[in-house]
Amino acid sequence: MAKIDFKTLKIEAQKAVKEAKDLKELDTVYRKYLGKKGELTLILRSLKYLPEKERKKQGKLANQLKKEISSLIEGESKSIEKKGFSFAKATEDKLDVTVPGEKPILGHLHPLTLVKRKTEEVFQAMGFSVIEGPEIENEWYNFDALNIPKDHPARDVWDTLWIKTEEKPLLLRTHTSPVQIRYMEKNNPPLRIIVPGRIFRHEATDASHEINFYQLEGLMLGKEIATANFKAIIKEFFSRFFEKEVKIRLRPSYFPFTEPSFEVDMSCLVCGGKGCKVCSGTGWVELMGAGMVHPNVLKAAGVNPKNWQGFAFGIGMDRLAMMKYKINNIRLFYSGDLRFLQQF
Ligand code: FA5
Repeated sequence: MAKIDFKTLKIEAQKAVKEAKDLKELDTVYRKYLGKKGELTLILRSLKYLPEKERKKQGKLANQLKKEISSLIEGESKSIEKKGFSFAKATEDKLDVTVPGEKPILGHLHPLTLVKRKTEEVFQAMGFSVIEGPEIENEWYNFDALNIPKDHPARDVWDTLWIKTEEKPLLLRTHTSPVQIRYMEKNNPPLRIIVPGRIFRHEATDASHEINFYQLEGLMLGKEIATANFKAIIKEFFSRFFEKEVKIRLRPSYFPFTEPSFEVDMSCLVCGGKGCKVCSGTGWVELMGAGMVHPNVLKAAGVNPKNWQGFAFGIGMDRLAMMKYKINNIRLFYSGDLRFLQQF
């Protein structure tokens, strides 16, 4: 066996370790000297062929060198890692503050939320308070107290979704009018409230009818509140809400809880009054029911009709939104279609 030149081996290894630029190169150095077929490993393996005395001497030197190279590589690997996180990284991944930022994806408010907020803002500016009521009601508040007796045909107008219970039946409110009663029971006139809320009807759907939609109830009571006040307030509401003059018309109608009653139509903004599927070709869209509160309703809620009078109304908020944003199908509001929602 040739004489082993540990000195040269050591110098070579030290040089190689120093020259390694990254962990990958350092790993190559490790394998060159200390890997399975590494130079030093082979030397250690061949020692067994030496005579005992020589083997002990060379073995000692070889093991010492192994330790040295090993710790050298370990030290270098730590320092490469350290550099990797600090200096090298900092100079390589420079932060260019002039690069335009990435736009975060923002959510959108639902058009019905926008309409709800705007209506509340307009009515609040006219002195109305915003009140809420339960979506699950009983027959008293949804019908009886509103002057709609049990076997009265008017009940059929509101196709009701019933909830089966052990005791008295419950229902999903078919309009926001029950909140009128709930509020008058607890608050004395004079009063001005609006009640935005979700309502439910078991009926066929089309471009302007849903089974689940939103209404905005209004109630104003005072000593001398008359139809003229209703007209003035509602005209003001429309011009502030649409931010332009819009054409409306009042039609005589019938609701058991108001007398006289009327419906308010608006010239269809989707087609400009020409006729489309939203207005069923008529050029007019029915937006709300209204009237002077029936004395029986006041009585049912504990208000004396001899002292107080006023008007109530119920606006279809979905229809209002359809007019405002020129939307030709009510079902789009409930579709969850992001292409639709991202427009608002
Ligand atoms: C009522 O619900 C009465 N409670 C309104 C009222 C309140 C009258 C206070 C008098 C005093 P009506 O069923 O007509 O009325 O509904 C009111 C409005 O809700 C309609 O004018 C319309 O704009 C909207 N609406 C009615 N049905 C639907 C439906 N299926 N889908 C979407 N909007 C509807």
